[in-house]
Amino acid sequence: MHNPCRVNMIATNFFGAGAIELIAEEIIKKGLKKALVITDSFLFESKVADQICTVLAGAGVHSFIYYGVKPNPTVEIVNEALSIAREIEPDFIVALGGGSAIDTSKAVGIVLANKGKVEDYEGVNKSSKKSLPVIAVNTTAGTGSEVTTFYVITDEKRHSKMVMVDTNSAVWIAVNDTNLMISMPKSLTAATGMDAMTHALEAVLSKEATPFTDKDALWAITVIKEYLPRAVKDPNDMQAREMMAYAQYSAGLAFSNSGLGMVHAMAHSLGGFYNLPHGVCNAVLLPHVMEFNAKDEKVQQNFQKIYKALELKGASAYSPYRAVTDSVREIKRLSQEVGIPPDLSELGVREEDFDSLAKLALQDTCMPSNPVQPSLDQIKAVYAKACKKH
Ligand SMILES: [Fe+2]
Repeated sequence: MHNPCRVNMIATNFFGAGAIELIAEEIIKKGLKKALVITDSFLFESKVADQICTVLAGAGVHSFIYYGVKPNPTVEIVNEALSIAREIEPDFIVALGGGSAIDTSKAVGIVLANKGKVEDYEGVNKSSKKSLPVIAVNTTAGTGSEVTTFYVITDEKRHSKMVMVDTNSAVWIAVNDTNLMISMPKSLTAATGMDAMTHALEAVLSKEATPFTDKDALWAITVIKEYLPRAVKDPNDMQAREMMAYAQYSAGLAFSNSGLGMVHAMAHSLGGFYNLPHGVCNAVLLPHVMEFNAKDEKVQQNFQKIYKALELKGASAYSPYRAVTDSVREIKRLSQEVGIPPDLSELGVREEDFDSLAKLALQDTCMPSNPVQPSLDQIKAVYAKACKKH
Protein backbone atom coordinates (compact mmCIF):
# COMPACT_ATOMS: atom_id res chain seq x y z
CA MET A 1 0.00 0.00 0.00
CA HIS A 2 1.14 3.55 -0.69
CA ASN A 3 0.70 6.72 1.33
CA PRO A 4 -1.78 9.36 0.06
CA CYS A 5 0.09 11.55 -2.41
CA ARG A 6 -0.28 14.62 -4.58
CA VAL A 7 0.17 14.14 -8.36
CA ASN A 8 1.51 17.14 -10.28
CA MET A 9 0.94 17.43 -14.00
CA ILE A 10 1.18 20.16 -16.62
CA ALA A 11 -2.27 21.16 -17.89
CA THR A 12 -1.34 21.93 -21.52
CA ASN A 13 1.21 20.03 -23.59
CA PHE A 14 2.03 20.12 -27.29
CA PHE A 15 4.06 17.35 -28.93
CA GLY A 16 5.47 16.53 -32.35
CA ALA A 17 7.03 18.13 -35.42
CA GLY A 18 5.62 21.66 -35.82
CA ALA A 19 3.96 21.69 -32.37
CA ILE A 20 5.32 25.18 -31.68
CA GLU A 21 2.61 26.66 -33.95
CA LEU A 22 -0.05 25.45 -31.50
CA ILE A 23 0.89 27.93 -28.75
CA ALA A 24 -0.59 30.91 -30.65
CA GLU A 25 -4.21 29.97 -29.96
CA GLU A 26 -3.55 29.61 -26.21
CA ILE A 27 -1.81 32.99 -26.04
CA ILE A 28 -4.66 34.71 -27.87
CA LYS A 29 -7.23 33.07 -25.56
CA LYS A 30 -5.37 34.45 -22.55
CA GLY A 31 -4.97 37.91 -24.15
CA LEU A 32 -1.20 38.09 -23.54
CA LYS A 33 0.72 40.82 -25.37
CA LYS A 34 4.33 40.99 -24.19
CA ALA A 35 6.87 38.13 -23.90
CA LEU A 36 10.41 37.73 -22.66
CA VAL A 37 12.11 34.88 -24.52
CA ILE A 38 14.89 33.37 -22.38
CA THR A 39 17.41 31.34 -24.35
CA ASP A 40 21.11 30.73 -25.11
CA SER A 41 23.45 32.25 -27.70
CA PHE A 42 23.41 29.13 -29.94
CA LEU A 43 19.61 29.20 -30.36
CA PHE A 44 19.73 32.98 -30.80
CA GLU A 45 22.49 32.94 -33.44
CA SER A 46 21.00 29.97 -35.30
CA LYS A 47 17.74 31.98 -35.61
CA VAL A 48 15.62 29.48 -33.67
CA ALA A 49 14.66 32.31 -31.30
CA ASP A 50 13.50 34.33 -34.34
CA GLN A 51 11.31 31.40 -35.36
CA ILE A 52 9.62 31.53 -31.94
CA CYS A 53 9.22 35.32 -32.14
CA THR A 54 7.48 34.89 -35.52
CA VAL A 55 4.96 32.51 -33.94
CA LEU A 56 4.49 34.96 -31.07
CA ALA A 57 4.05 37.90 -33.47
CA GLY A 58 1.32 35.88 -35.22
CA ALA A 59 -0.50 35.86 -31.88
CA GLY A 60 -0.10 39.64 -31.57
CA VAL A 61 2.73 39.40 -29.05
CA HIS A 62 5.68 41.80 -28.88
CA SER A 63 8.83 39.86 -27.86
CA PHE A 64 12.16 40.66 -26.25
CA ILE A 65 15.00 38.13 -26.23
CA TYR A 66 17.51 37.43 -23.46
CA TYR A 67 20.15 35.00 -24.79
CA GLY A 68 22.68 34.83 -21.95
CA VAL A 69 21.74 31.37 -20.62
CA LYS A 70 24.66 28.95 -20.21
CA PRO A 71 24.84 25.30 -19.07
CA ASN A 72 24.54 24.98 -15.27
CA PRO A 73 22.86 28.44 -15.05
CA THR A 74 24.07 30.60 -12.18
CA VAL A 75 22.51 33.12 -9.79
CA GLU A 76 24.26 35.80 -11.87
CA ILE A 77 22.49 34.65 -15.06
CA VAL A 78 19.13 34.61 -13.27
CA ASN A 79 19.77 38.14 -11.95
CA GLU A 80 20.74 39.38 -15.41
CA ALA A 81 17.52 37.96 -16.93
CA LEU A 82 15.56 39.37 -13.98
CA SER A 83 16.86 42.90 -14.49
CA ILE A 84 15.71 42.77 -18.14
CA ALA A 85 12.35 41.34 -17.09
CA ARG A 86 11.86 44.11 -14.51
CA GLU A 87 12.56 46.70 -17.19
CA ILE A 88 10.21 45.34 -19.88
CA GLU A 89 7.51 43.93 -17.53
CA PRO A 90 6.44 40.93 -19.68
CA ASP A 91 3.01 39.24 -19.38
CA PHE A 92 4.73 35.89 -19.76
CA ILE A 93 8.06 34.14 -20.36
CA VAL A 94 8.99 31.79 -23.18
CA ALA A 95 11.81 29.45 -22.17
CA LEU A 96 13.61 28.24 -25.29
CA GLY A 97 16.24 25.53 -24.86
CA GLY A 98 16.99 22.56 -22.63
CA GLY A 99 16.98 22.37 -18.85
CA SER A 100 19.25 25.41 -18.45
CA ALA A 101 16.90 27.84 -20.26
CA ILE A 102 13.80 26.34 -18.66
CA ASP A 103 15.30 26.35 -15.15
CA THR A 104 16.45 29.97 -15.57
CA SER A 105 12.94 30.91 -16.72
CA LYS A 106 11.32 29.15 -13.76
CA ALA A 107 13.64 31.05 -11.40
CA VAL A 108 12.81 34.38 -13.08
CA GLY A 109 9.07 33.60 -13.05
CA ILE A 110 9.10 32.72 -9.34
CA VAL A 111 11.14 35.76 -8.27
CA LEU A 112 9.01 38.14 -10.37
CA ALA A 113 5.83 36.83 -8.74
CA ASN A 114 7.17 36.50 -5.18
CA LYS A 115 9.87 39.22 -4.95
CA GLY A 116 13.15 38.69 -3.07
CA LYS A 117 16.01 36.79 -4.70
CA VAL A 118 16.37 33.33 -6.18
CA GLU A 119 18.39 32.08 -3.18
CA ASP A 120 15.27 32.57 -1.00
CA TYR A 121 13.53 29.70 -2.79
CA GLU A 122 16.08 26.89 -2.30
CA GLY A 123 14.38 23.78 -0.89
CA VAL A 124 10.81 22.54 -1.04
CA ASN A 125 7.81 24.81 -1.77
CA LYS A 126 9.39 28.02 -0.47
CA SER A 127 7.35 30.42 -2.63
CA SER A 128 3.80 31.52 -1.86
CA LYS A 129 2.60 32.73 -5.28
CA LYS A 130 2.42 31.03 -8.66
CA SER A 131 5.15 31.93 -11.18
CA LEU A 132 4.53 34.38 -13.99
CA PRO A 133 3.19 32.16 -16.83
CA VAL A 134 6.02 30.28 -18.57
CA ILE A 135 5.79 28.50 -21.92
CA ALA A 136 8.63 25.96 -21.95
CA VAL A 137 9.81 25.14 -25.47
CA ASN A 138 12.09 22.18 -24.93
CA THR A 139 14.87 21.64 -27.48
CA THR A 140 16.62 18.66 -25.82
CA ALA A 141 15.51 15.19 -24.72
CA GLY A 142 15.99 15.74 -21.95
CA THR A 143 16.01 17.11 -18.55
CA GLY A 144 12.23 16.94 -18.31
CA SER A 145 12.27 20.44 -16.82
CA GLU A 146 9.23 21.42 -18.90
CA VAL A 147 7.09 18.92 -16.98
CA THR A 148 8.59 18.98 -13.48
CA THR A 149 8.22 21.16 -10.41
CA PHE A 150 12.04 21.13 -10.02
CA TYR A 151 14.62 23.71 -11.07
CA VAL A 152 18.35 23.92 -10.33
CA ILE A 153 20.51 27.05 -10.15
CA THR A 154 24.24 27.15 -9.38
CA ASP A 155 25.35 29.32 -6.49
CA GLU A 156 28.88 30.24 -7.58
CA LYS A 157 29.78 31.65 -4.16
CA ARG A 158 29.22 28.28 -2.50
CA HIS A 159 30.31 26.22 -5.58
CA SER A 160 27.08 24.31 -5.20
CA LYS A 161 23.78 23.76 -6.93
CA MET A 162 20.58 24.94 -5.31
CA VAL A 163 17.68 22.57 -5.96
CA MET A 164 14.22 24.10 -5.82
CA VAL A 165 11.19 21.83 -5.70
CA ASP A 166 8.18 24.08 -6.00
CA THR A 167 4.68 23.38 -7.32
CA ASN A 168 4.38 27.13 -8.07
CA SER A 169 7.19 26.78 -10.62
CA ALA A 170 5.29 24.36 -12.91
CA VAL A 171 5.12 25.87 -16.38
CA TRP A 172 1.88 26.97 -18.05
CA ILE A 173 2.46 25.19 -21.40
CA ALA A 174 5.07 22.55 -22.28
CA VAL A 175 6.11 22.19 -25.92
CA ASN A 176 8.17 19.29 -27.30
CA ASP A 177 8.56 20.09 -31.00
CA THR A 178 10.87 17.49 -32.57
CA ASN A 179 11.78 19.88 -35.41
CA LEU A 180 13.62 21.96 -32.78
CA MET A 181 15.60 18.93 -31.54
CA ILE A 182 17.31 17.94 -34.82
CA SER A 183 20.15 20.45 -34.41
CA MET A 184 21.26 18.91 -31.08
CA PRO A 185 24.86 17.68 -31.39
CA LYS A 186 25.54 13.98 -30.75
CA SER A 187 27.19 14.59 -27.37
CA LEU A 188 24.21 16.63 -26.13
CA THR A 189 21.75 14.02 -27.42
CA ALA A 190 23.70 11.34 -25.52
CA ALA A 191 24.10 13.34 -22.29
CA THR A 192 20.49 14.54 -22.10
CA GLY A 193 19.23 11.08 -23.07
CA MET A 194 21.20 9.46 -20.25
CA ASP A 195 19.91 12.17 -17.90
CA ALA A 196 16.39 11.05 -18.83
CA MET A 197 17.37 7.40 -18.25
CA THR A 198 18.67 8.40 -14.79
CA HIS A 199 15.38 10.19 -14.02
CA ALA A 200 13.46 7.04 -14.90
CA LEU A 201 15.70 4.69 -12.89
CA GLU A 202 15.80 6.95 -9.84
CA ALA A 203 12.01 7.31 -10.02
CA VAL A 204 11.54 3.52 -9.94
CA LEU A 205 13.94 3.10 -6.99
CA SER A 206 12.71 6.19 -5.08
CA LYS A 207 11.17 5.87 -1.63
CA GLU A 208 8.25 7.94 -2.94
CA ALA A 209 7.54 5.77 -6.02
CA THR A 210 3.90 4.92 -6.72
CA PRO A 211 2.19 2.77 -9.37
CA PHE A 212 1.59 6.02 -11.27
CA THR A 213 5.27 7.02 -11.33
CA ASP A 214 6.35 3.42 -12.07
CA LYS A 215 4.13 3.32 -15.16
CA ASP A 216 5.81 6.36 -16.73
CA ALA A 217 9.34 5.57 -15.56
CA LEU A 218 9.36 1.94 -16.71
CA TRP A 219 7.96 2.83 -20.13
CA ALA A 220 10.64 5.53 -20.46
CA ILE A 221 13.41 3.01 -19.66
CA THR A 222 12.25 0.68 -22.45
CA VAL A 223 11.95 3.48 -25.00
CA ILE A 224 15.24 5.23 -24.15
CA LYS A 225 17.14 1.95 -24.40
CA GLU A 226 15.75 1.40 -27.90
CA TYR A 227 15.77 4.92 -29.35
CA LEU A 228 18.66 6.80 -27.71
CA PRO A 229 21.40 4.96 -29.69
CA ARG A 230 19.43 5.64 -32.90
CA ALA A 231 19.04 9.37 -32.12
CA VAL A 232 22.79 9.63 -31.38
CA LYS A 233 23.78 7.70 -34.52
CA ASP A 234 21.52 9.61 -36.90
CA PRO A 235 20.40 13.09 -35.75
CA ASN A 236 17.79 13.14 -38.53
CA ASP A 237 16.08 9.92 -37.41
CA MET A 238 12.75 11.62 -36.70
CA GLN A 239 11.11 8.53 -35.22
CA ALA A 240 13.95 8.24 -32.69
CA ARG A 241 13.76 11.97 -31.93
CA GLU A 242 10.00 11.76 -31.40
CA MET A 243 10.16 8.69 -29.17
CA MET A 244 12.98 10.27 -27.12
CA ALA A 245 10.85 13.42 -26.69
CA TYR A 246 7.96 11.36 -25.31
CA ALA A 247 10.21 9.16 -23.17
CA GLN A 248 12.10 12.01 -21.52
CA TYR A 249 8.74 13.69 -20.81
CA SER A 250 7.42 10.50 -19.17
CA ALA A 251 10.60 10.18 -17.10
CA GLY A 252 10.19 13.83 -16.05
CA LEU A 253 6.56 13.31 -15.11
CA ALA A 254 7.58 10.29 -13.03
CA PHE A 255 10.37 11.96 -11.09
CA SER A 256 8.43 15.17 -10.58
CA ASN A 257 6.09 13.04 -8.46
CA SER A 258 8.50 10.49 -6.97
CA GLY A 259 11.60 12.60 -6.40
CA LEU A 260 15.07 11.53 -7.51
CA GLY A 261 17.95 10.08 -5.49
CA MET A 262 21.64 9.69 -4.82
CA VAL A 263 22.76 9.87 -8.47
CA HIS A 264 21.34 13.36 -8.84
CA ALA A 265 22.51 14.44 -5.38
CA MET A 266 26.09 13.43 -6.29
CA ALA A 267 25.85 14.83 -9.84
CA HIS A 268 24.66 18.19 -8.51
CA SER A 269 27.83 18.40 -6.37
CA LEU A 270 29.99 17.67 -9.41
CA GLY A 271 28.13 20.17 -11.57
CA GLY A 272 28.36 22.94 -8.98
CA PHE A 273 32.01 22.22 -8.18
CA TYR A 274 33.54 21.69 -11.63
CA ASN A 275 30.80 23.04 -13.97
CA LEU A 276 30.50 19.62 -15.64
CA PRO A 277 27.59 18.55 -17.92
CA HIS A 278 24.72 17.27 -15.77
CA GLY A 279 23.77 14.33 -18.00
CA VAL A 280 27.35 13.07 -18.28
CA CYS A 281 27.83 13.17 -14.47
CA ASN A 282 24.59 11.21 -14.01
CA ALA A 283 25.49 8.64 -16.65
CA VAL A 284 28.91 7.90 -15.12
CA LEU A 285 27.56 7.74 -11.55
CA LEU A 286 24.40 5.77 -12.34
CA PRO A 287 25.72 2.17 -12.43
CA HIS A 288 27.79 2.74 -9.27
CA VAL A 289 24.82 4.13 -7.33
CA MET A 290 22.62 1.30 -8.64
CA GLU A 291 25.12 -1.19 -7.21
CA PHE A 292 25.25 0.72 -3.90
CA ASN A 293 21.45 0.84 -3.55
CA ALA A 294 21.09 -2.81 -4.53
CA LYS A 295 23.01 -3.93 -1.44
CA ASP A 296 19.70 -3.38 0.37
CA GLU A 297 17.54 -6.47 -0.06
CA LYS A 298 14.27 -4.53 -0.37
CA VAL A 299 15.73 -2.34 -3.11
CA GLN A 300 17.03 -5.45 -4.87
CA GLN A 301 13.44 -6.59 -5.38
CA ASN A 302 12.71 -3.39 -7.33
CA PHE A 303 15.45 -4.23 -9.82
CA GLN A 304 13.20 -6.95 -11.21
CA LYS A 305 11.01 -4.19 -12.68
CA ILE A 306 14.05 -2.47 -14.17
CA TYR A 307 15.35 -5.77 -15.58
CA LYS A 308 12.03 -6.33 -17.35
CA ALA A 309 11.87 -2.73 -18.62
CA LEU A 310 15.37 -3.08 -20.08
CA GLU A 311 14.03 -6.16 -21.91
CA LEU A 312 16.97 -8.28 -20.85
CA LYS A 313 17.07 -11.92 -21.84
CA GLY A 314 17.51 -14.94 -19.58
CA ALA A 315 14.33 -14.61 -17.54
CA SER A 316 14.42 -18.35 -16.85
CA ALA A 317 17.49 -17.87 -14.69
CA TYR A 318 15.80 -14.88 -13.07
CA SER A 319 16.81 -13.85 -9.55
CA PRO A 320 17.09 -10.52 -7.71
CA TYR A 321 20.89 -10.80 -7.88
CA ARG A 322 20.80 -11.48 -11.61
CA ALA A 323 18.39 -8.57 -12.12
CA VAL A 324 20.86 -6.20 -10.45
CA THR A 325 24.05 -7.35 -12.18
CA ASP A 326 22.46 -7.57 -15.62
CA SER A 327 20.74 -4.16 -15.28
CA VAL A 328 23.97 -2.48 -14.16
CA ARG A 329 25.88 -4.08 -17.01
CA GLU A 330 23.24 -2.96 -19.51
CA ILE A 331 23.34 0.67 -18.33
CA LYS A 332 27.15 0.67 -18.64
CA ARG A 333 26.85 -0.80 -22.15
CA LEU A 334 24.29 1.82 -23.20
CA SER A 335 26.48 4.68 -21.89
CA GLN A 336 29.45 3.30 -23.78
CA GLU A 337 27.41 2.88 -26.97
CA VAL A 338 26.33 6.55 -26.96
CA GLY A 339 29.85 7.80 -26.17
CA ILE A 340 29.70 8.74 -22.48
CA PRO A 341 33.19 8.85 -20.82
CA PRO A 342 33.78 5.71 -18.73
CA ASP A 343 34.88 7.39 -15.48
CA LEU A 344 34.93 10.65 -13.56
CA SER A 345 38.71 11.03 -13.57
CA GLU A 346 38.46 11.61 -17.31
CA LEU A 347 36.28 14.64 -16.46
CA GLY A 348 38.91 16.08 -14.11
CA VAL A 349 37.33 15.02 -10.79
CA ARG A 350 39.99 14.90 -8.05
CA GLU A 351 40.26 12.65 -5.01
CA GLU A 352 41.12 15.59 -2.71
CA ASP A 353 37.65 17.03 -3.41
CA PHE A 354 35.69 13.88 -2.44
CA ASP A 355 35.05 15.13 1.10
CA SER A 356 33.58 18.47 -0.01
CA LEU A 357 31.62 16.80 -2.82
CA ALA A 358 30.16 14.18 -0.49
CA LYS A 359 29.14 16.80 2.10
CA LEU A 360 27.26 18.76 -0.57
CA ALA A 361 25.62 15.57 -1.88
CA LEU A 362 24.47 14.58 1.61
CA GLN A 363 22.61 17.92 1.97
CA ASP A 364 21.12 17.86 -1.54
CA THR A 365 17.31 18.09 -1.85
CA CYS A 366 17.33 14.92 -3.99
CA MET A 367 18.98 12.69 -1.36
CA PRO A 368 16.02 12.05 1.02
CA SER A 369 14.05 10.11 -1.62
CA ASN A 370 16.97 7.75 -2.31
CA PRO A 371 15.94 4.27 -1.12
CA VAL A 372 19.01 3.95 1.13
CA GLN A 373 20.38 6.81 3.22
CA PRO A 374 24.16 6.74 2.71
CA SER A 375 26.83 7.90 5.17
CA LEU A 376 29.45 10.47 4.18
CA ASP A 377 32.05 7.71 3.78
CA GLN A 378 29.76 5.63 1.62
CA ILE A 379 29.23 8.58 -0.74
CA LYS A 380 32.99 9.13 -0.91
CA ALA A 381 33.45 5.44 -1.73
CA VAL A 382 30.99 5.73 -4.64
CA TYR A 383 32.86 8.80 -5.97
CA ALA A 384 36.09 6.80 -5.72
CA LYS A 385 34.60 3.87 -7.66
CA ALA A 386 33.25 6.18 -10.34
CA CYS A 387 36.69 7.80 -10.67
CA LYS A 388 38.54 4.53 -11.14
CA LYS A 389 39.71 3.86 -14.69
CA HIS A 390 37.76 0.95 -16.22
FE1 LIG B 1 18.59 15.32 -14.26
